[in-house]
Amino acid sequence: MCYKIALNFEDGVTRFIGCNSGEKVLDAAYRAKINLPMDCSDGVCGTCKCQAESGSYDLGDDYIEDALTADEAESGLVLTCQMRATSDCVLSVPTTSLACKTGHQKFAATVTAVTPHQDAAIVLELEVDTASSPAFLPGQYVNIDVPGYGQSRSYSFSSAPGDQRLAFLIKRIPDGAMSGWLAGAKPGDKLDLIGPLGSFYLREVKRPLLFLAGGTGLAPFLSMLETLARAESDQTIHMIYGVTRDLDLVLVDEIEAYAARLPNFSFTTVVAENASSHPRKGWVTQHMPEEVLHGGDVDVYLCGPPPMVDAVRRHFDDNGVRPNSFYYEKFTPNAVAKEAA
Ligand code: FES
Repeated sequence: MCYKIALNFEDGVTRFIGCNSGEKVLDAAYRAKINLPMDCSDGVCGTCKCQAESGSYDLGDDYIEDALTADEAESGLVLTCQMRATSDCVLSVPTTSLACKTGHQKFAATVTAVTPHQDAAIVLELEVDTASSPAFLPGQYVNIDVPGYGQSRSYSFSSAPGDQRLAFLIKRIPDGAMSGWLAGAKPGDKLDLIGPLGSFYLREVKRPLLFLAGGTGLAPFLSMLETLARAESDQTIHMIYGVTRDLDLVLVDEIEAYAARLPNFSFTTVVAENASSHPRKGWVTQHMPEEVLHGGDVDVYLCGPPPMVDAVRRHFDDNGVRPNSFYYEKFTPNAVAKEAA
């Protein structure tokens, strides 16, 4: 049995390695030419400590309390020189990919479709030029080089991990580099991608979820919803999808389809502009009923522009809401790189 271990580094780079049943994660990383932090490799120094974000594992029993206390183990910290995975796992490594002598992965892909949506967004579909699809976590992004512009743009996958077909939901920006290139793009065109990247990804689902999507910040949630639907999740999930203008509301039929596949998924849409005839106008915070916060027993994920992140934080503070966790990714349509927290 070989498990897939995602190593998330401090600089946002994620590398996936295979770890054989019974093999220590540190050894598996070394096989993959990734030098995770280590010193003693005997469970004594604690140098190899990482945070397990998800998955099941055996901590090992050859380490000493000074290297990993019972409280640390309880909170999900692990020693990679001792840990043996018993399922796929996600680990946060408290250093940069460079320090571990690894870095971004590059891959090439071919355009298979470019589909405009209401003059507001574009769905770009690609097929990777390798036999296997690049591994990523639902919610992560890649940097795509814009041919001829000498620049790259960051886009979250809207497709699910493991698919040969990659999809991205891209905001259409007049005079934007990628929008300009996409206007003339056709199936067969080649693109270079770097990734996966980002610390905004779906964690182990243990409680109700609240998804807050701003504009094309919908993309990572489509990847998460597809992942949850394939896992036949029955967790309670509510999504609020907010946009500026009526025409920015795209792919609503795709979201509706998830409501049919996920028994406890619901969603609402909100349009900000005053001129809209939409039944819910304003900001997502104005359409966030108490029940979707589950008294704080909720994991909140937000992907949207910086003012939306700030508004939601303020809303939680003003209303004394302390969600169990709050993961967010700020983006601006023209940003060369995303900021995640
Ligand atoms: Fe020393 Fe793991 S390397 S405890």
